[in-house]
Amino acid sequence: MSEKKRKTDKAHLVVDGKTVELAVLESSMGERALELGRLKAETGCFAFDPAMANTAVCRSSITYVNGEKGILLLRGYPIEDLAERCSFVEVAYLLIHGGLPTMEQSMRFSRLLNIHSMLHEDMRSFFGNYPEGAHPMAVLSAMVVSLSSFYPELRLENTQEETDITATRLLSKLRTIAAFSYKKSVGEPYVYPSHKYSYCENFLNMMFSSPVSMYKADAYDVALMNKLLVLHADHEQNASTTVVRMVESTGANLYACISAGICALWGNLHGGANQAVIEMLEKIHRDGLTADQVIHKAKDKNSRFRLMGFGHRIYKSYDPRAKLAKKMCMAVLKKKKIQDPLVEIAMRLEERALNDPYFQDRSLYPNVDFYTGLIYRAMGFPKEMFTVLFALGRLPGWIAHWQEMRKDPEQRIMRPRQIYTGPQKTAYIPIEERR
Ligand code: ACO
Repeated sequence: MSEKKRKTDKAHLVVDGKTVELAVLESSMGERALELGRLKAETGCFAFDPAMANTAVCRSSITYVNGEKGILLLRGYPIEDLAERCSFVEVAYLLIHGGLPTMEQSMRFSRLLNIHSMLHEDMRSFFGNYPEGAHPMAVLSAMVVSLSSFYPELRLENTQEETDITATRLLSKLRTIAAFSYKKSVGEPYVYPSHKYSYCENFLNMMFSSPVSMYKADAYDVALMNKLLVLHADHEQNASTTVVRMVESTGANLYACISAGICALWGNLHGGANQAVIEMLEKIHRDGLTADQVIHKAKDKNSRFRLMGFGHRIYKSYDPRAKLAKKMCMAVLKKKKIQDPLVEIAMRLEERALNDPYFQDRSLYPNVDFYTGLIYRAMGFPKEMFTVLFALGRLPGWIAHWQEMRKDPEQRIMRPRQIYTGPQKTAYIPIEERR
């Protein structure tokens, strides 16, 4: 019997002797899920799934990840092709609009990105009020939610034109905010965006140009920046995207949703891992630790240490983005003639981990964050900016999911359940009688 034939479209669950029929849903790639929407109503039970490891929360046509085979498709296109052949602006368009742009559409989108690149001048003063050393992710999330006070939010029945303007406004301004937050952190004057530059060129110019040194982004760095942003553009229902969707489900505006997503991305187990990887490598270098010592510590269940940049909830094989990032890392070091001791440590750690039964048994491979920080470092970005760069790359994905969520008739306010473990109804004790 063929695999296709063996598949059923109904599953049966017996609870307290009562048989309940559950629909078996199938994705366009053949993965199956049990429909649990009426579980409580029909059985009196909830599903218990901490960390939502077995729970699909929506149907989505944006991104496909196959963790066993190491496949990542954005709107059907392999990440390898997009990273090699598309600009970030094209991929942003692809995610938000559902298809790659024609030349004319791409030019219009780029034009909108330039038109909306300025921040309201009153927002500029906000940056000045952050303390020295403020993390750029804190500034980024606060500034994004502040945009809602300056720019109109989308109406529910928005036109395509309005969506375009809002999406490009956010994409463009996030880049300006990111660069301003860096300038603030190093105490340099802000550099304004310019209409004469492309998206990534503009960003590099705002980051690295200063009144005392002329800066001209070279074509290699612009191409690299494009590729890096493309690698991060979307990754289906990861933690930050789920946060964006959840906040959207409450009816909050787009800026609030994205700001919440930025906060979720900041964590070390998610996008913050790119900074954490470099800090780990710096410490290994500083303390003169061997790869064996580090791996030993990562395996030690009494230690809280984990090998940062390793492991992934979905990938049980090499993360395709990490594969690309590793190649890019080697190429940029060669091109810029950089010898970075941290890269050598990273490669030794990778080799040692991949040959260790602990990592093999748990299918732990490098993830996207393992090598990207090393690339950013070679490009001159300080490590505090790494997660900001991730956010910049992930923004079109978040917008696409926000949009999909808004139009999905199956979605309601997201409200998970719990298994309560606290006390049963307890009699109140007046304060003077408490012991
Ligand atoms: N180092 C050492 N052990 C690890 C690591 C690691 N990096 N990652 C997972 N493990 C172990 C766990 O201890 C656990 O072992 P056990 O079965 O003996 O208890 C097993 O592998 C499974 O790990 P979980 O934590 O259950 O896996 P989960 O899917 O919940 O977590 C995560 C995934 C958070 C990415 C985890 O692998 C991790 O902490 N990695 C390091 C942080 C990191 O690189 N995050 C970036 C992820 S990519 C991204 O978000 C962009």
